[in-house]
Parts: sequence; structure tokens; C-alpha cells
Amino acid sequence: MILKELSPIQKKILQYLEDNARHSGNELGQQLGVSRTAIWKHIKQLKTMGIPITQIPQQGYQLKQQLILLNEEKITQQLEHHHFGKKYTLHVVTSIHSTNRYLKELPPGNTIDICCAEEQTAGRGRFGRNWQSPFGENIYCSSRWSFHGDLNKLSGLSLVVSLAALATIKQIHPSDEFKIKWPNDLYWQDKKICGSLIEIIAESNGNALIIIGIGLNVNSDHNAKLAEDRPWSSLYQITKCHYDRNELTALLLCHLERYLARFNDTGFSAFMTEWKQSDYLFGKYIEVNQALGCISGTSMGVNDEGLLKVEDPSGMTHIISSGDASLSVCSEHF
Ligand code: BTN
Repeated sequence: MILKELSPIQKKILQYLEDNARHSGNELGQQLGVSRTAIWKHIKQLKTMGIPITQIPQQGYQLKQQLILLNEEKITQQLEHHHFGKKYTLHVVTSIHSTNRYLKELPPGNTIDICCAEEQTAGRGRFGRNWQSPFGENIYCSSRWSFHGDLNKLSGLSLVVSLAALATIKQIHPSDEFKIKWPNDLYWQDKKICGSLIEIIAESNGNALIIIGIGLNVNSDHNAKLAEDRPWSSLYQITKCHYDRNELTALLLCHLERYLARFNDTGFSAFMTEWKQSDYLFGKYIEVNQALGCISGTSMGVNDEGLLKVEDPSGMTHIISSGDASLSVCSEHF
């Protein structure tokens, strides 16, 4: 269920305000053919949605920070520009519970379904965590792909999705300081900047649908409350530039398409060199929390299937397929 949509007039108001200049109620009213009072009411609604508009007495309305709205046409144009090869259906929504859930509930079609939202009201992270998704700041994008074959071959998929996200970020801001924390958190100097949530739905015909949801912190500044207890960063914090999420979303999807195609052809082993260059945990003393308990030891990287190798203090190597990995606060665990 889509919770709320911007009305055409609200979208137009925001398009006028995109230039970050002040616009009076009279001016906006004249441009859009409505009264000053109508403009005031729409602005009030926009503010309740969390859109940072200030009203300066006698002067008008102004956005407190740069806001470029998601735009279906722009994303489509950019997907074509970057040669997205598959047939797709794009669902750009204002507000949704979760873009992953939207695609889970959407009846399957013959194309890749892509859902991008301005905000998520119940954005989900791994291990049942929340994914804070404030309006208009970041990328909340899910895509649904069909997969034919043995599901065991999907081991390593999370890592490949992270590598695709990393390639996207590095194209914007080339830096070796971006790392991936196994299996799918992107970090910048010990702060999380991107996460992905992959859900696999097995179909009765033996095929599967794979939903890949990516949350990338783009324009959030230090005032945003993205995660209370965990350090986070955003492209804006790193580069002090605001980004057009339409361009970035398209770039991300194009990288994803290419990485998935390669993964389908070769499996994870072909990505090993790339993985090693950005492995955040390698050589560090870590803890991995799993349903059956916690394993601590030194991260020895991943194997050919993307499974994590952890050597405990007794010298035994554990091969871990899933879990929540973090740097250990103490090194004496056994
Ligand atoms: C994590 O790091 O725990 C995963 C975060 C995944 C967040 C994205 S935002 C788009 C998609 N929709 C969701 O509800 N979650 C994913």
C-alpha cells in the first residue's frame, strides 16, 4: 500500500523551490494558477511530510537544503544513457512502507521490477533492524530479478551486490577508504554508508525471484538520525556535495545488472581479487553473531563461495555462511 503521494501541484511547488531561492506565495500562486492561501496549505502539508521548507516573513518560501525529487523520466533517461540492458518496469513512489515489501507483494511480471521511494515508513534492515529512510535524502531502491537454477549457487550474491554498490560509489568519489564489511555493509572510515537486504522467493516452477533492496546514504547531513547507536556516513558528509539521486539510482542499477550477469556466468570466485581490495574485516579480530551462538577470531577473508573464514584462538578455522559480523571489543575470547 502506498501511504501518500505528492499531488501534482505539490510536485510543481517543489520543482520551483529546487533552485533554493525564495519564492513568495503570490509568485507560486500565479505560476500554478491557485491562490496564495492554497499554496500556504500545500506547503503546510509538505512540511508535515518532513520536507524542510522555511517561511521567511514578507519574502516567501525556501528549501533549507538542496532537494531534487525522484523523477521517473530522469531515471529512465539515465538508465538508457548507461545502457541498462534488461526490460524493466519502474515504480517511483513518494512514500511506502518498504520498497522490498512492495516488490514482494507485487504480482510477478515479465520484466525486472524496480521500486524507488522518496521515503520508507517501515524500511527494513538485516536481522529485523529498522532502516531509517527520511524523505528525499537518500536512495531506497529495490529491484526484483528472476533466477533459474540451483539456489546453492546464490552463495556470494550479497557480496557481489555490495561490490556493485561500491563500484557505483567509487565512480562518484574514487577512494580506497570505502570498504565492505562482510557480507554487505559498505563503510567509509568505520562508518556505515550503505546496506542491502536480499530476499529470495522460491516459485512453484523451480525458479526463484530475488529482491535486492539497497539503502545508500546520499544527501543526509549530520543532523539526520539514521541510526541511533551505530556510526553512519553519507556521500554528502564525505564530499560536501549534494547528489541527484535520479542519476545515482540509475548508475547503481546499471552496475547491479552487470555484476549480476557476471555472477550468473562465473560464480563468486571471479570477484575474489576485487573483494580482497575492499575487505574491511580481513586480518581483524571479529565476532560473528549467529542463531546458534557467537564465533570470535581473526577474519581470514572469504572462500570461493563468499563464505567467511574465521580462525579462532585455538587455530581452528570456521566457515561462516551468514551472521552479523563486528569488530571485537576485546581480543581474549577463549
Ligand atoms: C542493512 O544494512 O541492514 C540492510 C539495509 C537495507 C535497506 C534497504 S532500503 C531499500 C530496501 N527496502 C527496505 O526496507 N530495506 C532495503
